[in-house]
This record gives sequence, structure tokens and C-alpha cells, in this order.
Amino acid sequence: MINIVVCGLGGISKRVAQGIQFAENAHLYGICSRSLEKAKAWQQEIPVEHIFTSYQDVYADADVDCLYFCTPNNTHYSLVKDALCNGKSVMCEKPMVYSFKQLEELFKIAESNHCFLMEAQKTMFSPLLEKVLEAIENGIIGKIKHVDASYCFDMRAYADPDQWHFQKGGGVAGDIGVYPICGVYKIANSAPASIQIFKKNYQEYPVDFVYEAYITFENGVTGSIHSNWIENKIDKGSMFIFGEQGTIEIPAFWKGKIAYVHNARPETIEVSFDSDFTAEIEHAASCIEKGLCASPMLSFEKTKEILSAYQE
Ligand SMILES: NC(=O)c1ccc[n+]([C@@H]2O[C@H](COP(=O)([O-])OP(=O)(O)OC[C@H]3O[C@@H](n4cnc5c(N)ncnc54)[C@H](OP(=O)(O)O)[C@@H]3O)[C@@H](O)[C@H]2O)c1
Repeated sequence: MINIVVCGLGGISKRVAQGIQFAENAHLYGICSRSLEKAKAWQQEIPVEHIFTSYQDVYADADVDCLYFCTPNNTHYSLVKDALCNGKSVMCEKPMVYSFKQLEELFKIAESNHCFLMEAQKTMFSPLLEKVLEAIENGIIGKIKHVDASYCFDMRAYADPDQWHFQKGGGVAGDIGVYPICGVYKIANSAPASIQIFKKNYQEYPVDFVYEAYITFENGVTGSIHSNWIENKIDKGSMFIFGEQGTIEIPAFWKGKIAYVHNARPETIEVSFDSDFTAEIEHAASCIEKGLCASPMLSFEKTKEILSAYQE
């Protein structure tokens, strides 16, 4: 059982904690917050044994195997580096970093300290996408040609220059663009050969509000990715997989449980799970149990490929 401490008790932390609670090989060991009061209030909702208010205390606890960072993007690099340098394994919410140099440095530190490191890209571990991929491999829509995925909602009325999403280190591509990127990568199941990126800012904000990419993969599959904080898409977005003998439509592909196959004999592909975070957590925990420093499914190279889709 891998003991995990959830760090940063913001918006996503409770869903991550629940994902850990449903995992078969991981245990919600503790939470770490800058505020004891906040941690105690959080604990009322999700019972947890240990509360930490300093990372040094987390490092000093020999029973802690892994820190899961749910902190703002612009804190990730230094927090992850510090944890790895203190001998702890790390899962870090997306985007872990925006720089290829920092990404390489962090994976090297993980390896030299015999720690595990993984960016928390839950879409890469989606049980539904796994099952869809299996069906594609079994020929359900013939050879696949193109994958189109989107994730968009209008944030303009909520944009706040003092909030980290809208400051340097934020932006739509790293925030929600990574869901369609990972979805397309997962289904294309090949390395990208060429990537064209389009980004557009909005008003005075120093970050992208519109992100589009067109990717050609080494196996000939192409992908189009749409993400913006401008447009309220139905259910925020969806994925379409176009094959020679049909199309697969997946609403909410980043967390969904059902896909619709449109071919000569229409059918559905369905899965069931309790939390959309559990699959990535179980995967990371099993890598830690095996003493791996990186995930075979989300290695340094794969994480770099994902970053390449939105960072030039
Ligand atoms: N995978 C997903 O589905 C998903 C969904 C949403 C967000 N995310 C990612 O999760 C991360 C957090 O997002 P969020 O929406 O939860 O953010 P948030 O609501 O702003 O919360 C972040 C938390 O981090 C802590 N924090 C803030 N500033 C810090 C600093 N300077 N140093 C250390 N800790 C700090 C705070 O917790 P304390 O006060 O307790 O210290 C804060 O509540 C982001 O990287 C985001 O992209 C992932």
C-alpha cells in the first residue's frame, strides 16, 4: 500500500483524495496545507489521519511514500524539485512544468534519488479510452484516420488578473487543453511527427485563452485539438474518432464512462468506476511498488511529447 499526502487543499484536492480512497494499492495518508485551520475544516469532509502544515514535516515522516501536488501551476517546479531532493516520490497535477529544461531536470533528479515522478494526466489512464483503444485494435471502425477532441468553456466573465490561472504560468492550453491533447495522443497511440500550434490571448491577460493544434502522428493518424475559455461547448467538449468503417463519439472523454460507436451496427462501449482519478493513482502506486522512477505509460519522453503539443 502506497501512502500518499495530498498537498494544497484547493478546488481539486477533494476529488484527488477521493480518487486515492478508491484505489486498491494506495492510501490517503495525509494532507498538507499552509493553513492548519483550513486542513481541519477539510478533514471534516474527508477523514484523514495526518495533517501537515510544512513540507519539511512531510519529508521527515518515513511512512510517506508519495506527495500529490494540487498547488497552482507556478509552484510546481520548485515544490516537485524539493520533494524529490528530499527522497519522496511525486505525482504533480498538470501542467507539471512549462519548460523542457525543467522537465528533464526533474526526471533526472527523480532517477538519481531513486524516486518516482509522474505528471498527473488522468486522461492518459482513462478506463474508457483504454477500452475504446482495445475495440479499435479489434477493428470496430476499421483503420483510424483522424481524432478530433475539444474542451472549452467561457471564462471571460470570471477572468481575474489576481488569480493564477490568468497570470504567467496559467493559460488555457496547460489548464484544459491537456485533456484533448492526452485524449488524442492516447487514441492515436503513436509519437507525434509534426505539430502545428495556434494560440490567442484575450484583452490584457498575459496568457492564452484560445489554443488549437493540428498533429500528424508517425503512424499516419492525424489529430485536431480545440480548447478555449471563450466558447461554452455542450458538456464542455467531446471526442470523435474517425475510422475507415465508422466513427466513435465520446462525450466527456476525459472522465466519461460511455462511448457511442456509429458504424454498420451501432453499439456503445461502457465502463464503470468510482473516481476519474483512481486509474492514474493506481498506476503510479504500482510503479512505486515496483521501484520504478518513471511510468512506462507516462515516461519523460511521453510527458515531453504532451508538452510539445502546447509549448514551442
Ligand atoms: N486533473 C484535473 O482534473 C484537474 C482539475 C482542476 C485542477 N487541476 C490542477 O490542480 C492544480 C490545482 O488546481 P486548483 O484548481 O485546485 O487550484 P486552487 O483552487 O487555486 O488551489 C491550489 C491550492 O494550492 C495551495 N497553494 C496556493 N498557493 C500556494 C503556494 N504559493 N505554495 C504552495 N501551495 C500553494 C493552496 O492550498 P493550501 O492553502 O491548503 O496550502 C491552494 O488552495 C493545478 O495545477 C490545476 O491545473 C487538475
